[in-house]
Amino acid sequence: MKFSPLVDSIAGGGADTWKVHDRAVAMKAAGRAVTFLTIGDPDQAPADLIIEGARAALAAHHPGYAPIAGQPAVRAAIAARIARRTGAACAAANVVVTQGAQAGLYCAMQCIAGDGDEVIALDPVYATYGAVIAATGARMVKVPLDAGRGFHPDLAAIEAAVTPRTRAILINSPHNPTGAVFDEAEKRALADICRRHDLWLVSDEVYEDMAFARPHLSAWSLDEAAGRAVVVSSLSKSHAIPGFRLGWAAAPPALAGHIANLLMCLAFGGPPFIQEGVLPALKTDLPEVAALCEDYRRRGQAMAALLAGAPGCVVAAPEGGMFLLLDVRPTGLTSTEFAVALLEAHGVAVLPCDAFGPNVAGRLRISLTLPDDQLLAAGRRIVAFCESLRSAA
Ligand SMILES: Cc1ncc(COP(=O)(O)O)c(C=O)c1O
Repeated sequence: MKFSPLVDSIAGGGADTWKVHDRAVAMKAAGRAVTFLTIGDPDQAPADLIIEGARAALAAHHPGYAPIAGQPAVRAAIAARIARRTGAACAAANVVVTQGAQAGLYCAMQCIAGDGDEVIALDPVYATYGAVIAATGARMVKVPLDAGRGFHPDLAAIEAAVTPRTRAILINSPHNPTGAVFDEAEKRALADICRRHDLWLVSDEVYEDMAFARPHLSAWSLDEAAGRAVVVSSLSKSHAIPGFRLGWAAAPPALAGHIANLLMCLAFGGPPFIQEGVLPALKTDLPEVAALCEDYRRRGQAMAALLAGAPGCVVAAPEGGMFLLLDVRPTGLTSTEFAVALLEAHGVAVLPCDAFGPNVAGRLRISLTLPDDQLLAAGRRIVAFCESLRSAA
């Protein structure tokens, strides 16, 4: 049987990245103790308010369809949350509720780029970006983040990459996997490039609550990006509910309408009890969210301090997000060789970054998604592994 050309665009996106993880899953199934530091799945329990809210909404609600773009009250609450956080006007008509930030990104990209277009993305890119952009027919043009400056944007290189075919610049801050949090000047300059070249600024802000080194500045708040900012975000990480698939895209009303049309074809709306369940959490800043973010800040600092003692490795505490980047190039191993050997010797699974792009080859992404004692115990095994490498050398 024949398939459409789409299948080639969406195949293999980051598949290599997960080989070590898959091996670890197989080892665990075979009875070995394995510590997983691979996936960005928060270990904290969600707030009772959310679980009880979803339970009550499920019990009380006729399980019918929700409006395609989301429950009106939920769209309004997300809009009010964005306006509260950014100081910029945002109305329900700007917001579409999506299945996580991921579906928001997919739908937005489908509606702004197509065959022959180009989308600039900053290398390393989050694993799904390549397939999301390729599925539109557009070409992803990768511009390296400046590794020498903690993976912050190289503004001149980004502007130099703009061509008449460029439709959008896609950014992600706090950044996965490097942990970089772009500063205000960088954000404004990126928005200004978009303004001068008439481009969309698509901003993946899924880690918006986890900015440690400096405050997170949403693209929605930038005057330079007015009328061209598309923000995708979710409660997946900050509220420890990735399985709820509750995210959104905020965009100018015309684009929000197109996204809703695509969602009609794709999903026909999301589960209403999930949307109603999170409604109270959208209206307030929960202490559980602040505590979860503090967990990641503290764990990042502690793990970086511990791994600074690992011979042949270079590490810095993340500026934000829920991952730590460990540079193992001085050991002489590739990141995949290192991760495989670490898994076999010590049962610790981490993510080799080679498949994220050449700019982070030789680094490991370590998820900070375990309680502190277990995380630091795994960190000590990484240090021990590096010491054994040095002794062997
Ligand atoms: C940068 C980035 N964007 C998007 C997503 C997907 O988020 P969601 O669960 O809200 O779809 C992730 C998940 O890990 C991510 O790291």
